[in-house]
Amino acid sequence: MTGSAVPPAFTIAGLFAGIGGLELGLHAAGGETKLLCEVWGPAKAVLKDKFPDVPLHEDIQTLDKLPKTDVVTAGFPCTDLSQAGRTAGIHGEASGLIKHLFELLRDASPRWVVIENVRNMLVLGKGHAMSYLVEQLEGLGYRWAYRLVDSRFTGVPQRRQRVIMVASKEDDPTNVLFSDDAGEPGDDRFKDDAYGFYWTEGNTGLGWAKDAIPTLKGGSGLGIPSSPAIWIPDAPRGQAIVTPSIEDAEQLQGFPRGWTEAALEVGKPGPRWKLVGNAVTVGVAEWLGRRLTSPGDFDHDYGVPLSPIDKWPKAAWGSSGKRWAVPVSLWPEQHQYTHLLDLVNQEELTPLSFKATAGFHSRLERSSLRTQEAFKIALKEHVEAMRPQTS
Ligand SMILES: C[S@@+](CC[C@H](N)C(=O)[O-])C[C@H]1O[C@@H](n2cnc3c(N)ncnc32)[C@H](O)[C@@H]1O
Repeated sequence: MTGSAVPPAFTIAGLFAGIGGLELGLHAAGGETKLLCEVWGPAKAVLKDKFPDVPLHEDIQTLDKLPKTDVVTAGFPCTDLSQAGRTAGIHGEASGLIKHLFELLRDASPRWVVIENVRNMLVLGKGHAMSYLVEQLEGLGYRWAYRLVDSRFTGVPQRRQRVIMVASKEDDPTNVLFSDDAGEPGDDRFKDDAYGFYWTEGNTGLGWAKDAIPTLKGGSGLGIPSSPAIWIPDAPRGQAIVTPSIEDAEQLQGFPRGWTEAALEVGKPGPRWKLVGNAVTVGVAEWLGRRLTSPGDFDHDYGVPLSPIDKWPKAAWGSSGKRWAVPVSLWPEQHQYTHLLDLVNQEELTPLSFKATAGFHSRLERSSLRTQEAFKIALKEHVEAMRPQTS
């Protein structure tokens, strides 16, 4: 992964590295990682396996200094920011660790800083987390831009919306984030032979996704490894409501299948779902890396002035206290789309258990959620197909 004869296009320090989704994508665009920082055992096992030559520092709280690199990445913990999490906010125990990035940046001058987190960060506590990030970056003299993107633009069938923020003192981050806009594709891009949903939900939402899996998550409301489920309307009885394998999930995030196998060395399989759910989709980072090495030419007249009391829009940029919203889509590019049933290994799909399907079905029946009648019928049929036989 490192040490090639060709000098890298840019160098990276990867903080909160997880399983290296950002780094893997940035490598595909010519980057080379000089430092990884990650505290969690299963994630460290994956990083050591996949980036064996890169120094790995454990805890950001004991990292004194950043190496000299062109890019510093920080996909910091979303635990206190995401809807599925504790929502304590940007000063929560886990998400609050981002303050160490700003402390480290006082004595470092990377050309680019890349921050990534969940969509909910734009609205939680009236957007307080975004305001904090912006204030910190501006206090250090950075210009910033951010954009909400949907991982499906990279061609993977996973609907995943994440905020990508880029900041720089020397360059204009708008040329990185806003130079591409392919627009959202029409509904006809997606097939109607498979639908993703969260069987752990059913009270307030389903995470319903056509020809895609809803966002893979690090945890679920039920506190269990959160594999989503798939409804395949034309599948035979007992195989219409299924869950994908962890290898499918890895590929849904743009990783090679088996990427997190090394995590098994340090424990049970459960953490693999969390590792994959936490990661940045590799193709998103690759697009970003291409634009970091070759920024475009964004026309600033395209921005709309924002006041500090306005809500944070889907994309914006600013510096020195001034802000502009940018009306771009969540699809900077449109790569060839892999349909959900073409990605998953259909032989390894697991029928959702009787208990899980029955529980989900009854939550759904009690809720006011609207769903297709055919889906409810399929759930009932699956419950019957999976019902344990009594002798
Ligand atoms: C959202 S994940 C990052 C995912 C990563 N960008 C990827 O693509 O895999 C946040 C990571 O921060 C790590 N983390 C939490 N506390 C940390 C600490 N004190 N020092 C370093 N890393 C920490 C977590 O273990 C988790 O893997």
